Amino acid sequence: MPETYRSFAKINLHLQIDGRLPDGYHQLRTLFQTVSLHDLISIEPRAGSGIELRVPEGGAPEDASNLAYRAAKAILDRWAPDQGVSIELRKRIPAGGGLGGGSSNAATVLQAVPEILGLEVAAEDLRSVARALGADVPYFLVGGTALGVGRGDEIIPLSELAEQEVLLVDPGVSVSTAEVFAALGPPRPRPLPAGIVDFLAGAAVRDIAALDAFNDLERPVLDRFPRVRSVYNALRRAGASCVRLSGSGATVFACFADSRQGGEVEAYLPSEAKVYAVRTMSRAAVRAARSASDSEGNGL
Ligand code: C5P
Repeated sequence: MPETYRSFAKINLHLQIDGRLPDGYHQLRTLFQTVSLHDLISIEPRAGSGIELRVPEGGAPEDASNLAYRAAKAILDRWAPDQGVSIELRKRIPAGGGLGGGSSNAATVLQAVPEILGLEVAAEDLRSVARALGADVPYFLVGGTALGVGRGDEIIPLSELAEQEVLLVDPGVSVSTAEVFAALGPPRPRPLPAGIVDFLAGAAVRDIAALDAFNDLERPVLDRFPRVRSVYNALRRAGASCVRLSGSGATVFACFADSRQGGEVEAYLPSEAKVYAVRTMSRAAVRAARSASDSEGNGL
């Protein structure tokens, strides 16, 4: 029987660009938060070596261009060259959406394959393999509320935000992260917003809006993608207390002081937009809901 895991999405509550690194990457500070939207990944050992990947739901490549495949290969090549795994991926997280779906899948596979094959992989080795797969992958080894610094791949776990409902809106366009970063003007280093400084100092935050956060990638994305802009403006008109692009988009998330307001939001949105009502999740909640093979966490 394969083991089945939930592979959760993230949003970036905050993302600021501080500078440019010599390798062309950007130095940033970002506040990550896990949300309940997730893909399902079933993994089992297979006879012989190598990787078999199937994606029966959601449409994603079944070859080595898929980060889940590359994650499995990175583990097998180094720790179990004679063994193999079969992976089945059911995608629900929109691709190219700024929700980290591919990176989350990679981290889930990095943790699951050693478990399933009984391999000893040190946490530090797992982190460096994660970093090589993509800047967002190390965050998903940690989850919950966490600060990402450097390329966004040095992760500092934080005390958790109070669980809250968030509306994710996928405008139905796919945005290339590399193109958005390339379209940024010169970095404008600034201090962290006061609400985030207070949160880092231990203040309890009940509403994401109280963080005074922003996303430096928002401007280039809203300027280039009219449909993202129309979703963004519609959420504002619908009375959201915060509206923000997640990562490099195209997903926009919104908080509503009253969850009934969120329920009426579809009337404001373009017809191509897809709405997901989700909850933020702490690290403990992610751990408890990680296995989809048992009955725990099946309220999701
Ligand atoms: O690491 P990942 O593959 O997710 O990044 C995609 C692209 O986003 C990179 O090729 C780079 O152009 C850009 N990027 C960046 N600075 C970061 C993270 C990503 O310029 N900190």
